[in-house]
Amino acid sequence: MRVLGIETSCDETAAAVVDDGRWVRASVVLSSAKVQERFGGVVPEVAAREHVAAILPAVAQALAEAEVDGETVDLIAVTRGPGLLGALLVGVAAAKCLGLAWGRPVLGVHHHEAHLYAHALEGPPELPALALLVSGGHTALWEWVDHGVLHPVGATRDDAAGEALDKGARLLGLGYPGGPAVERLAATVKSSRWTLPRPRVAGHPYDFSFSGLKTATQELVRLHPEAAAEIAYALEEAVVEALVGPTVAAAEALGHRRIYVAGGVTANQRLRERLTRAAARAGITVVFPEPRWCTDNAAMVAALGFYRAREASKGWEGLSPAPDWRLG
Ligand code: KG4
Ligand code: ZN
Repeated sequence: MRVLGIETSCDETAAAVVDDGRWVRASVVLSSAKVQERFGGVVPEVAAREHVAAILPAVAQALAEAEVDGETVDLIAVTRGPGLLGALLVGVAAAKCLGLAWGRPVLGVHHHEAHLYAHALEGPPELPALALLVSGGHTALWEWVDHGVLHPVGATRDDAAGEALDKGARLLGLGYPGGPAVERLAATVKSSRWTLPRPRVAGHPYDFSFSGLKTATQELVRLHPEAAAEIAYALEEAVVEALVGPTVAAAEALGHRRIYVAGGVTANQRLRERLTRAAARAGITVVFPEPRWCTDNAAMVAALGFYRAREASKGWEGLSPAPDWRLG
């Protein structure tokens, strides 16, 4: 089965052609990050306008690189939410137009669930397992029981992990997106004289909280504007440590021997090393997607579409974005 994936939930306009949920024939990601950088973050109206300009070129490029004709596509999978309404509208509208033109069904998928399907690009995921999503929009733990069956285990009470890094980066005068910038700057020092708080949510051992980090970072930047690299180091440390503890504890408590990690922050090298090491001590394997499938892309959307193809039934003509769609 050949699936065309479309992703426009934030600032990446992405299209991909994936066969049988695994074989990526083409994956195109046109980012508007350069434009967003001028504003210091994602401006919803700007993102939507950029998607309108980029969506058809992205689809055309994906089809051309895959050397396939739109008529050979069996299903169109598109991110329906959560995300920015104006941005989602562009992807959903484009998917429906293509579905109508090619006479193919359209399936709206959940962006966070799609992140997990970055793993399917390496082969069918071995379920059940614990899943950790760490992106700019959300941070959560689930029991990934089966395809379409995700049980919530814990989630952030406020900011997402990536959001904490993005906000910290802004305070440090670094560019957008902040995660990679913080990682690069932190790598220029070997340690930091400061330890930023790793807040826990009382009575909820698998929940996360990152909003306090912003205030703590702000204070350090005010007092020590010259020590940006050390502050970046402390910030990265705090985010990584806040993720590792609850994740390994949840896997142990629920008896999972495997953790699938997904989302943009997964590209972070320190997180990969720390989590792998801590889990190994408990006899647990951590699986990370290839870095290029960690941040937003459409191959993961197409992969999820393959596993859920049966749900692409009649009535998709009325499909609309779901900007606040909650999973589980
Ligand atoms: O999953 P994603 O591409 O988009 C969302 O669905 O949110 O994640 C984007 C987030 C941003 O907050 C970005 O700063 C963070 O992932 N990120 C990183 C790295 N690369 C991207 N954070 C830490 N280290 C990285 N190397
Ligand atoms: Zn994402």
